[in-house]
Amino acid sequence: AIEVKSLLAKTGKVALDPGFVNTASCSSAITYIDGDAGILRYRGYPIQELATGSSFIEVCHLLIYGELPGPGELKELADKLRQNAGIPDEMRTMLDALPREGHPMTLLGSAVNLLAAYYPDSVDLSDPDQVELATIRLLAKLPTIAAHIYRNSIGEQPVDPDPSLGYVENFLHMTFGKEKGEGELGSLFVKAMDLLLILHADHEQNCSTATVRVVGSSEADIYGSVSGGIHALFGPLHGGANQAVLEMLEEIRSSGTDLDTFLERVKARETRLMGFGHRVYKNFDPRSKEIKGLASQILDNQERPDELFELALQLEAKALADPYFTERKLYPNVDFYTGVIYRAMGFPTTMFTVLFAIGRLPGWIAHWREQAADQTSRIARPRQLYTGPGQRSYPGRA
Ligand code: ACO
Repeated sequence: AIEVKSLLAKTGKVALDPGFVNTASCSSAITYIDGDAGILRYRGYPIQELATGSSFIEVCHLLIYGELPGPGELKELADKLRQNAGIPDEMRTMLDALPREGHPMTLLGSAVNLLAAYYPDSVDLSDPDQVELATIRLLAKLPTIAAHIYRNSIGEQPVDPDPSLGYVENFLHMTFGKEKGEGELGSLFVKAMDLLLILHADHEQNCSTATVRVVGSSEADIYGSVSGGIHALFGPLHGGANQAVLEMLEEIRSSGTDLDTFLERVKARETRLMGFGHRVYKNFDPRSKEIKGLASQILDNQERPDELFELALQLEAKALADPYFTERKLYPNVDFYTGVIYRAMGFPTTMFTVLFAIGRLPGWIAHWREQAADQTSRIARPRQLYTGPGQRSYPGRA
């Protein structure tokens, strides 16, 4: 404490803020959150209105270019994404050579970083045309790379993008083949996936977006910066929580653990209630309300009740009736109900965070571009409080 005080006294400038709880690292005009009131807006539009009124491609346009697209602009963006969805043969060969049992997030982050090597004509951040090219390539190719990784992981031949399909249909087509995008259930899945992507599209300075900005602040290329964001998202305290929630529910079900006993273990800090709690939302997460509604809509369509969804509902009710959680303002976050939806659609748990990454991509790009265009932006270089030994002599050289 004395060392801390003396350093503060010396510089008058260093604040110790682990986890950046009270530190704003930038100004941004992209997303507004009021955590106490449960408000989330992209470029001023409430998330609920975007969720009911817009498509994911419209939201990409809104986040990245600042405004909702007119009909011509929307078509132009959708066309560019269709035209750029393919990946080079060399990249396909590289993806096929990666370990099949590797986690899809590890492979995805690595592949996105390598886009800089496959497309060196779009890494110069001083050239707006190159930034634009990289933006389109990232948006267009991420679903293709993700589906390719998935097909390899199950030992199936990757499926080429189909330029006649929309963004989400195409992703489901490349992942599962045609059937998931067709018929009544298919169109419900497409609608659900589009909505989930919108709800995940940006969330101001969350861990992965802050990572994208930190990497980009050294004027690193956009592919490498987004790759850093993908790896940050992978952690179970961030986007990896959607996988962790489902694993938690499966473990409770298979072990037959009583929910009260499980919550006692959480309160004894033996484990965490995954999918609960948020750094900013201290009342409710508006995304989780939308997602819970969507989960009912999808799972009510199934022949039998979904056991894990039922378990999640009971767990939520029990936690919210317990002062341990309410006193700490712990409520379900965006990840609590997404897993049961993805599972109903046929995705394995290891793909859940990949789906989050596809949704978060326009947010990462928007923040990278906002920072690159900001003349006042500086390299991110936090200070530290040194706690190691004072000067020592190297042994034998005293
Ligand atoms: N289960 C049990 N207790 C919890 C949980 C949880 N999920 N989350 C927080 N707490 C408790 C902490 O033990 C702490 O209690 P204490 O004050 O008695 O020590 C208090 O609530 C505050 O928690 P912190 O960890 O300090 O909160 P922080 O803002 O640093 O962390 C986080 C937020 C990482 C989201 C945390 O709530 C968590 O680990 N949740 C589970 C993982 C998860 O769902 N992550 C996804 C978040 S959303 C997203 O990133 C997309």
